[in-house]
Amino acid sequence: MESNNVDQSFLDDVVDGLSQPQKTLHPKYLYDDDGSLLFEQICELDEYYLTRTEMAIMEASCDEMATAIGPDAVIIEPGSGAGTKTKLLLGALRTPAAYVPIEISDDALSRSTTILRKDLPKVRVFPMCADFTNDVDLPRDLPSHARRRVVYFPGSTIGNFEPHDRLPLLRRFRKLAGNEGGALMGVDLQKADTDIIFRAYNDSRNVTAAFTTNILARINRELGADFDLEQFTHYAPYDAKRHRIEVRLCSNVEQTVTIRGHTFNFARDEYIIAEYSHKFDISSFSAEMEAVGFRLSNVWTDKDRLFGVLFFQSDCQKATGSPLD
Ligand code: TRP
Repeated sequence: MESNNVDQSFLDDVVDGLSQPQKTLHPKYLYDDDGSLLFEQICELDEYYLTRTEMAIMEASCDEMATAIGPDAVIIEPGSGAGTKTKLLLGALRTPAAYVPIEISDDALSRSTTILRKDLPKVRVFPMCADFTNDVDLPRDLPSHARRRVVYFPGSTIGNFEPHDRLPLLRRFRKLAGNEGGALMGVDLQKADTDIIFRAYNDSRNVTAAFTTNILARINRELGADFDLEQFTHYAPYDAKRHRIEVRLCSNVEQTVTIRGHTFNFARDEYIIAEYSHKFDISSFSAEMEAVGFRLSNVWTDKDRLFGVLFFQSDCQKATGSPLD
């Protein structure tokens, strides 16, 4: 029954996205089991500077981060994936009370949980297989001595949300963190050299292309569609005005695609938007965080200021909008 439900909302989302004047697909569908493995390969590419730079920041500063977070914290990680950076953070924390990875891919979640339990046997892990863009209830049996909850959101995943979707998501994070909590956010920064950004999303070995076209293969497989994968090309230009990469799947020819009785026409060169990746400015990002009740507390960056890891504390005064707990 469960899998029928998932299929139906997947189908509805796909049909809805492809029916828009600008065809889109929701990026969360990139991360099925195959997609999660391909994404891990992206993270290892030389051209994909984000992971390596963020890891270096974590290595250099995880002790300071641990001090800022304090002892007996519960770390909640929406979209935890392979959880490589998290291991550094958890290893540096003084007596972490628990780790709650929230991950949409079952495989990725069980692989990372197994590794973490082996490498950090003292940390209690409460894995949750869930879509973090929906409301998620925390496990009821979290240790009662926990002092605060901190949402860890690395990888500049926040940049994959459009501004109007960011706000509700950050509000959800603020709720998860509560009034004594915090948020440790990894964000890719705006930079003068936009070529380096371009190359990170248009790599020479076409790993990123394999990752994005996998969403079409998934739609074929799970929804019985007839996308011809040879007739779509990955291309991800940088929009300097909006400070974002736009990940496109471009139709090489005029063609028609059928998904469970729904037909979609593509003109030659018409494209589907599969993902945005926004690049941030620290002060405007902090303003967004402030609007949901977080106050900027610490900033760590690399020497070239390519990437930032920002720590925010819950702030009860500044929250606007919906009531907090
Ligand atoms: N959070 C990652 C980013 O914005 C996700 C990502 C990396 C991605 N490469 C991609 C998403 C290629 C779609 C396509 O950098």
